[in-house]
Amino acid sequence: MSAGTKAKDVGRELEELARGAKSVDDLMFQIVKLLHDRMLKYNWVGFYMVETAPDGEPPMLVLGAFQGAMTPHTRIPLHQGICGAAASTGKTVIVDDVSKDPRYLACSFETKSEIVVPVFVQGKVVGELDIDSHFPAAFKDEDRELVEHCAVLVGKHLEKSQK
Ligand code: SME
Repeated sequence: MSAGTKAKDVGRELEELARGAKSVDDLMFQIVKLLHDRMLKYNWVGFYMVETAPDGEPPMLVLGAFQGAMTPHTRIPLHQGICGAAASTGKTVIVDDVSKDPRYLACSFETKSEIVVPVFVQGKVVGELDIDSHFPAAFKDEDRELVEHCAVLVGKHLEKSQK
């Protein structure tokens, strides 16, 4: 099965997951598990959610559901890392070679490439889906499509649950 066909297949499974999810937390857990189990080059998959401190402290990205080895980066300021770049610009960031990106916060020596996709609720970034790969340039167009699809499903679910 080609990588593109696999991504499309997993995309269809996601639709079913989204329909059956009991809560947003359940959906996020199911998504990280599905991507980690089925997409062979997705070696670490996790959500970071934006936490806005009530006392005027700067907002932080806080680690949520994830699959893979424990990371030292459980809280990331919005101006740090590839994670911070995606959250502060509201744009998907793909890094083919993390060793060449000065923004990169190392999580594992094995990580070679990374994709981070923001999650929006009513046009505002509320979190993101971060994936690391042990393979250089692992994230192609079909991966971007799949991961952006996941982020949209979570954003829609969050929007519904806040109504
Ligand atoms: N590499 C990320 C930090 C998170 S870990 O990959 C899980 C970054 O540069 O923001």
